Amino acid sequence: MATQAMSEKLQQDIDIQFEGKSAKLPLHRGTEGEVGIDIAKLRSSTGLVTFDPGYGNTGACKSAITYIDGDNGILRYRGYPIEELAEKSSFLEVAWLLLNGELPTKTELSSFSAEIKQHTMLHEDFKRFFGALPKDAHPMPVCAATVGALATYYQDPESERQIHSSVIRLLAKMPTIAACSYKHCIGQPFMYPRNELDYTSNFVNMLFATPCEDYPIDPVAARAIDLLLILHADHEQNCSTSTVRLVGSSQAPLFASISAGISALWGSLHGGANQKVIEMLEHIAREDGSVDKYVARAKDKNDTARLMGFGHRIYKNYDPRAAVLKKTCAEVISRLGKSSKLLEIAMRLEEIALKDEYFVSRKLYPNVDFYSGVIFNALGIPTNMFTVLFTMGRLPGWIAHWLEMRRDPDFRIGRPRQIYTGANKRPYVSIDRRG
Ligand code: ACO
Repeated sequence: MATQAMSEKLQQDIDIQFEGKSAKLPLHRGTEGEVGIDIAKLRSSTGLVTFDPGYGNTGACKSAITYIDGDNGILRYRGYPIEELAEKSSFLEVAWLLLNGELPTKTELSSFSAEIKQHTMLHEDFKRFFGALPKDAHPMPVCAATVGALATYYQDPESERQIHSSVIRLLAKMPTIAACSYKHCIGQPFMYPRNELDYTSNFVNMLFATPCEDYPIDPVAARAIDLLLILHADHEQNCSTSTVRLVGSSQAPLFASISAGISALWGSLHGGANQKVIEMLEHIAREDGSVDKYVARAKDKNDTARLMGFGHRIYKNYDPRAAVLKKTCAEVISRLGKSSKLLEIAMRLEEIALKDEYFVSRKLYPNVDFYSGVIFNALGIPTNMFTVLFTMGRLPGWIAHWLEMRRDPDFRIGRPRQIYTGANKRPYVSIDRRG
């Protein structure tokens, strides 16, 4: 059973007065000391709503899953530092942790893994489903559509038992869906899952093997991918997770909510950034490797270029996932026996940007996508699959949030307010009198 989201109600209230009306707004303190103003009664007492574009100051829920301290570069899943999980755990262990609140025992992990292996195949009809999609489709909308379509195959009402089955099915089928989305676009036959392999090796096999011959899975590559999945597994109320919660708050089924999360993750300001990082590095490599030229473009407000993989809404010191990856990146590339021109450019870019007043003053540091793209590239993962791997990693986090929301006693449908700026009431103009 997952740990409950606990908070302490403080004795002190915040008093607000507006146009003769007043409200006493309670304060809640979380387990790491953050204090939030409870504005639930603000509008009914004073007529005021809050205005917070991009939700930078809005705490939309209480959550016991992930803690981030962006100023100090701290990220913990269920209290465990990301650095330790990255070093010592497997992705499935981390998935269990996120879903259940505790690290699994050996028995729990082995039955979790065995249960997942029972559900790795997709219904054969999905071959026709994929066949109906254009070959040049990006794998992200293909994944979103396929996960959405799972809701048409598993239509039972969502009892707790049924929700458990949906969770297992999603975790089990996501690597298969991810690999099929790629095979579809390159025109190769889909590979069936091989249940004797571990979670990540099975994915690598489905991605790279063909029915013609055995594919030797490189354990260094499989471990690197497993590590990347761990680092992406949750990140509290980011854009895609908030999307999953918002869609799920209408009591839409789990598959539909996750499909919406995949669509949100696709965007280049979110999960799509890892693909954009490699495209940027390749662009620099083509343009005689001039890092300074690209940095100048990223600083120029008349140019749309941004330094992809730099900056983060929350981390204003460094992204701890990027720190883990920076170390791993050079290690993996040398253990794979590869030299990486892109890694060299990435390191030069980082060095220059970290000294540049523009980036320093705005607290723009490399984020997780900066190095993940370089590792994926060195592992031979096709560029358009980077965000799909992010999806596989983020899946347990999305599910954990969806479950936490559904079990929250304060659960309500998500429905933000707005400040209307349109026309005031005006008379209708018939069509022959317009223009
Ligand atoms: N390159 C150049 N300038 C940047 C960058 C960048 N990568 N990121 C932010 N800035 C500048 C902005 O132009 C703005 O400058 P200004 O104050 O002169 O107007 C200032 O820094 C603040 O930027 P915002 O866009 O307001 O910051 P916000 O918190 O809204 O955005 C974001 C964060 C979207 C991550 C942004 O930094 C960005 O676009 N980065 C590149 C894309 C990227 O790497 N995304 C992955 C994020 S991590 C993830 O989703 C896993």
